Amino acid sequence: MEDTYIGAIDQGTTGTRFMVFDHAGQVVANAYEKHEQIYPEPGWVEHDPIEIWENTQSVVQAALEQGGIDATQLEAIGITNQRETTLVWDAETGRPVHNALVWQDRRTTDRVEALQDQDKVEWIREKTGLEADAYFSATKTEWILDNAEPLKLSTSRTQDLRDRAEAGELLMGTIDSWLIYNLTGNHITDVTNASRTMLYDIEALDWDAELLEEFDVPEAMLPEVRPSSDEEFYGTTDPDGFLDAEVPIAGALGDQQAALFGQTCFDVGDAKNTYGTGSFYLMNTGNEAVSSDHGLLTTIGFQMSGEPVQYALEGSIFVTGAAIEWLEDVDLINNAAQTAELARSVDSTDGVYMVPAFTGLGAPHWDGRARGTIVGMTRGTRKAHIVRATLEAIAYQTRDIAEAMENDSGVETTSLRVDGGAVKNNFLCQLQSDIIQTDIARPEVDETTALGSAYAAGLAVGYWDTIDELRDNWQVDREFEPEMTADDADRMYARWDDAVERSLNWATE
Ligand code: G3P
Repeated sequence: MEDTYIGAIDQGTTGTRFMVFDHAGQVVANAYEKHEQIYPEPGWVEHDPIEIWENTQSVVQAALEQGGIDATQLEAIGITNQRETTLVWDAETGRPVHNALVWQDRRTTDRVEALQDQDKVEWIREKTGLEADAYFSATKTEWILDNAEPLKLSTSRTQDLRDRAEAGELLMGTIDSWLIYNLTGNHITDVTNASRTMLYDIEALDWDAELLEEFDVPEAMLPEVRPSSDEEFYGTTDPDGFLDAEVPIAGALGDQQAALFGQTCFDVGDAKNTYGTGSFYLMNTGNEAVSSDHGLLTTIGFQMSGEPVQYALEGSIFVTGAAIEWLEDVDLINNAAQTAELARSVDSTDGVYMVPAFTGLGAPHWDGRARGTIVGMTRGTRKAHIVRATLEAIAYQTRDIAEAMENDSGVETTSLRVDGGAVKNNFLCQLQSDIIQTDIARPEVDETTALGSAYAAGLAVGYWDTIDELRDNWQVDREFEPEMTADDADRMYARWDDAVERSLNWATE
């Protein structure tokens, strides 16, 4: 009998990956393609959904070819995606009415400030677990319906976008829905992605009528919400479509929740931090939605078929890996790997602090008008100091979250599982362990995001029987223990808050 596998589409902020996994959770094929970042105005970030769908098809084909795998050998495909990024498309033609508004996009900051002025922040948090912010899909959907160019739509129909949405002629979705729709023809999202829209009640597990009214979003345009691992499948690929095979699409999770799942953080108190464009620190809180008093989000961690929802506390840091990309953009480094060597070439930053608040600050500050800053420079400041300050900023932002997490949950962080592109950097992992004074565990398979969605899809189709089987697949690559004293770590961290203070409320538009 031929070997069979599970595929995972990982549609992230900077690119799209397709990975194929075997029973042991090992990668047998992998292909990746970047897509364009569109910046129409300062603070605005868009993606072309058509490009994302085309790239998805091409990475799937490239990986299968590379691994010598036939699509019929895939027992199921899971999807994981950049969360919150929002688009609206025509149900009949499948054409988007506007580019997708990316999670980093700040164009709706004024709208969020209006909500703050109207004292609606607590009301939104109680229903959604989220901090009112332009980060989430609600104000992005409202903006698209208010601003997308109606003339681009078919002229034979009503031109008003809301009327069309009301009639079910336009569909709204996050990237998981966009891919599921293109793969299966069905309009579906999973609970984790729904929990990031700011339109979904995370306790009632339903779209919230009052929030839909607040943001003027017709319910008819929203996807059906399903478990993250779904034995009924979201649908199957078209046997006459690009894959030439009928493969069940059986799992979907927002990428940060997928990493939590891929890191096998199945028990209460299990935590992981993913270092991608930003960093997202999630702790499993079980069947209880723990609310935060320290600027964290309460969100849905995952839901298995026929089981109750598992919640998580989340610290969302908007910029970490993207700060390293910025160093490259401004030619301070040629590639990310250079950062470790440069940072090691100096003993300290000599008092330089870098706050990479390029797209505002997320947890725990939630300031959409914060902007990046470097403080403490002298005539003697060199490139190496700025590079080191950038890596330290990643570690300090994570400590902000670790402390908030401990305060909210009452659970002391003793070990943290890490993943994402930046954890290949041993210097950063060691620094992270030093700054939060906690052991850091880096797994062998560092593509835990894709792995998590493969697990969700594979469990749904019986490729894996139980989550215990998955725990056995988790193998440590390297553990980092604090080498710095707690006093030294506290001393370095002490001025971080002062630096953050200087970045707050900077942007005027
Ligand atoms: O919430 C945003 C997050 O899902 C983005 O993740 O890995 O695409 O930067 P990533």
